[in-house]
Amino acid sequence: MGNKIRLGIIYGGKTSEHEVSLLTALSIMKAVDQNKYEVQPIYVQMDGSWLKGGPIAGQLPENVNALRLGGGITLGLDDDKQEEQAQTAHVSNQSLAGKPANVMSIHQDVDVIFPVIHGPNGEDGTVQGLLELAGIPYVGTGVMASAVGMDKLMMKNVFAQAGLDQVKYVGFLRSQIERDSDSVMDQIEQMLGYPCFVKPANMGSSVGITKAKDRDGLRGALELACKFDRRIIIEEFIKAREVEIGVLGNEELLTSVIGEVIAAKEFYDYEAKYKGGGTDLIIPAELPQHVADRIADMAKTAFQALDGSGLSRVDFFYDEENDRVVINEVNTMPGFTPFSMYPMLFAEAGIPYVELIDRLVQLGLERYEEKQRNIVAAEELE
Ligand SMILES: Nc1ncnc2c1ncn2[C@@H]1O[C@H](COP(=O)(O)OP(=O)(O)O)[C@@H](O)[C@H]1O
Ligand SMILES: [Mg+2]
Repeated sequence: MGNKIRLGIIYGGKTSEHEVSLLTALSIMKAVDQNKYEVQPIYVQMDGSWLKGGPIAGQLPENVNALRLGGGITLGLDDDKQEEQAQTAHVSNQSLAGKPANVMSIHQDVDVIFPVIHGPNGEDGTVQGLLELAGIPYVGTGVMASAVGMDKLMMKNVFAQAGLDQVKYVGFLRSQIERDSDSVMDQIEQMLGYPCFVKPANMGSSVGITKAKDRDGLRGALELACKFDRRIIIEEFIKAREVEIGVLGNEELLTSVIGEVIAAKEFYDYEAKYKGGGTDLIIPAELPQHVADRIADMAKTAFQALDGSGLSRVDFFYDEENDRVVINEVNTMPGFTPFSMYPMLFAEAGIPYVELIDRLVQLGLERYEEKQRNIVAAEELE
């Protein structure tokens, strides 16, 4: 008593991944050692306003069972457990308690915050910036790495600089596409050909992403992507296995085992991720040792190139035929229920969920301390 770490969990958010975040928050609350932590839930509603205290609240999705498995991954949990989870979801759904809050009113209530918001307005450095400004220690990636990691174009530019192998890509502004789509499409055809992947630079969960197979498809794909962002990235298609690895640490880095995602659909799209639909997860992935080593190396390089901290899940394509490992993206706030890829990869590596949370909180506090060493003004040198 008294010495408990007051752990704030900021969850929800103004994002398409709102519901996943509720489950993550719920999972963390249920998992942490109550003797060690006093959890303070902070709910960011869809309209952007904050509520503090009260149970984890909000509109949970109908298909909560599929969702809680971190992307429709079926693990064959028994029905009782699924029922229990659905009940919990239902109960907390009814009690949207909590007081209106803002970042300053939260300051005195917490020692450290675990922001578990995914996607834009959460994983992109905005929440992190608010916490920096308020001087509150927090778990996970800092402002710059969050922002760069959220923007697929910027991220790929940084990877290129770090010498990481990746697919060919090109970026356009929405205004360029709207002004002269034919010339944009000519350039894409010349550089990349078909099929190609069209993505809004700043989204997640495969929202707004299309595989374009011809010029008509490309036109539609660009139109769709332009609804979501003003920066658009187009990538060459790669036929490859999709493998993912976890990175944990600030400066000294630990990598997890590697997992493989096998989507039944044409690609790992939003439906496959969150609505179930036969996505298989294989942990550990079956890979030759030299490939596994290369993936771990590249993951660390990517993490450092962004100046990551705390955690990241790094996603790769493995083209077996050409024995080529290509980096796809870094997720600086990956799905984080006990049944999401990142925690499962570390559980397999010997770090169970509860311990993973402990370590992340510790890393967040350490990073904060490290930053306190910086002097603010040159006069302090005297
Ligand atoms: N260049 C590509 N070649 C082949 N498949 C791709 C390519 N880019 C994306 N995909 C498929 O689309 C999915 C989502 O793309 P991704 O860039 O990972 O976006 P998100 O940030 O939404 O996860 C990937 O998991 C993969 O299945
Ligand atoms: Mg992805």
